[in-house]
Amino acid sequence: MSIKIAPSILAADFINLAEDIDMVNKSEADWFHIDVMDGVFVPNISFGMPILKAIRKEAKKPLDVHLMIIDPDRYIENFADLGASILTVHFEACTHLNRSLQKIKSCGMKTGVALNPHTPVNNLTDIIKEIDLVCLMSVNPGFGGQSFIENTFEKIKELKKLIKKSKTSCLIEIDGGVTNKNASKLIKYGANVLVAGNYIFKANDPKTNIRLLKQL
Ligand code: DX5
Ligand code: ZN
Repeated sequence: MSIKIAPSILAADFINLAEDIDMVNKSEADWFHIDVMDGVFVPNISFGMPILKAIRKEAKKPLDVHLMIIDPDRYIENFADLGASILTVHFEACTHLNRSLQKIKSCGMKTGVALNPHTPVNNLTDIIKEIDLVCLMSVNPGFGGQSFIENTFEKIKELKKLIKKSKTSCLIEIDGGVTNKNASKLIKYGANVLVAGNYIFKANDPKTNIRLLKQL
């Protein structure tokens, strides 16, 4: 299975959002990664439904929506209506994670669970079979452009072990500080999806950087 690349729209140029979306449409990227932040779960507010609606209209690839919000159950149906294909909630933000995932599935979306850098992978032991994608945060969520946390490699290894032991299949997504410098090692350890914001959108030639990641 080839590696999937999900450019993070948080690093796009919001004045020229249509151009950046078009660039991703025409690139070798696989998904759009959409970071929704509430200013409570993380110390930043990004954007919400109206922007997502606008993105959906232009985007020709699946939307991988990463919710950094408390009590995400309140909005699961809204995100389904807005056209999210994968909906990722944070382990740390869900009191009843099983219920949240059931709701995501019943709304026709793939289930994602994100783990903060300090959250051990073994928290997922009893829920892994319900998850389509685990997003390992390789920075503290809230901002783009931060440096990659090296401990992520160990977490990928543990997650691979857990997935194998549970005889299930689930994608491993890495989010935060991904560049051409760490991408091949991430893939070697077992990453399936690479999210990249600054490395793509702040480049002189974003499409080439997407290709560099894709061809690893
Ligand atoms: C961080 C977000 C990331 C972020 C990645 O809270 O979840 O998706 O946009 O941006 P870079 O690749 O610049 O670290
Ligand atoms: Zn994200």
